[in-house]
Amino acid sequence: MSKLWGGRFAKNTDVMVEEFTSSISFDSRMYRQDIAGSIAHARMLAQCGIISQDDARLITDGLNDILADIEAGNFSFEVSLEDIHMNIEKRLTERIGPAGGRLHTARSRNDQVALDTHMYVREQVAAIGGLLFDLEQAVLDIANKYPETIMPGYTHLQRAQPILFAHHMLAYFFMFERDFRRLGGVWESADIMPLGAGALAGTTFPIDRELVASELKFGRIYENSIDAVSDRDYILEFLSFASILMMHLSRLSEEIILWSSTEFSFIELDDAHCTGSSIMPQKKNPDVAELVRGKTGRVFGHLMAMLTVAKGLPLAYNKDLQEDKEGLFDTIDTVKFSLTVYAAMLRGLKVNSGIMRQALKNDFSNATDMADYLVKKGLPFRQAHEVVGKCVAYCLNEHKTLADLSLAEFKQFSPLFDMDILEAITIETCVAARNSLGGTSPAQVRQAVTVAKSIMEKQ
Ligand code: ARG
Repeated sequence: MSKLWGGRFAKNTDVMVEEFTSSISFDSRMYRQDIAGSIAHARMLAQCGIISQDDARLITDGLNDILADIEAGNFSFEVSLEDIHMNIEKRLTERIGPAGGRLHTARSRNDQVALDTHMYVREQVAAIGGLLFDLEQAVLDIANKYPETIMPGYTHLQRAQPILFAHHMLAYFFMFERDFRRLGGVWESADIMPLGAGALAGTTFPIDRELVASELKFGRIYENSIDAVSDRDYILEFLSFASILMMHLSRLSEEIILWSSTEFSFIELDDAHCTGSSIMPQKKNPDVAELVRGKTGRVFGHLMAMLTVAKGLPLAYNKDLQEDKEGLFDTIDTVKFSLTVYAAMLRGLKVNSGIMRQALKNDFSNATDMADYLVKKGLPFRQAHEVVGKCVAYCLNEHKTLADLSLAEFKQFSPLFDMDILEAITIETCVAARNSLGGTSPAQVRQAVTVAKSIMEKQ
């Protein structure tokens, strides 16, 4: 296939080089953006008197026909035409003749690819926002489904203090909500219109960039033509957003995997969201959570790859920048699929409240409350900590829990202990007493649920 840029070349491109430099195998997914961008560009060229209205009409009709052909599967993409931009332009010219050759007036593929990618990211960000919203709803629903369930809270994966299960889940809700905010920031950065930058320096034609921006519903326009074709920071922001989101999902996955083990048995996943083993008939594996945790690695990798691609590039466009797309697209696909299966998995998840509560029967999660009890009787906290530490050591020796001690035994450790100590260290009291703002008490968690619901209603 003859090249759109063939004029200065005496030789054909090596087939191997064509294949190596081509991006059509992955950038064809931006065909809608490329066509919409070209239509807006052509209309603007006509409006500004740079091409005739007749040519603009031919171009627009031709592009719409190509769009229909691509959607019907009647368009064959050619590697020799390198990328989506030249595949479409070449086909257009074949169809409508010389008018097709006027489309690329006052434009370069450098600003064209930047335009397409901005539009693509903007559209995908909106789709991901919907899926993330649904995940937040699923997290909120499961918190609301078990409002009274108490579980051990951990630090260092050692029992720390009892908490409400709903409180634990709401922690993730608020993380995902911040991810949602970050996604909004990505949208802002993708909503800047690069077309009109030309190859790098602008154009000699009297174009109207505002017109193109308003046609394509962009909020802003790049102020500097070199910036417009050189930077990929909006892609990096998307990959950063995606990495943080996947990190959050991966942490939740780790907990779901642990909790569904026989050792914990805190939760049970729905059969529909697990897989079996080809050898061990008893197995029910939490593959969804494991794969989301695993796929986090590739998303982090794409962020690191793009940072590395960009870091040494002189201004303006360099072909290295073509490497922005595969990682971006793979991240989009990974995040969308992960969010979708994850929300479904959470909706099918059952919590074993009894086992969670039982787990707290034989541990020392109430030790802090015992120290707080002494503090409220006047002992400085550091001394109270020491006294309770000794009680715990004593109990471990005697194979008892704190609640098993008699008043006489308590008094051996401090005269401040009284009959009311047992009530002060029941698990329910420990939870209810953590009533500080943002704490785990049922009252605070109810308040947090109200806040979460109002956040969801506003969106
Ligand atoms: N396929 C290229 C990319 O993805 C399009 C821009 C190419 N520009 C150029 N001057 N070679 O970056």
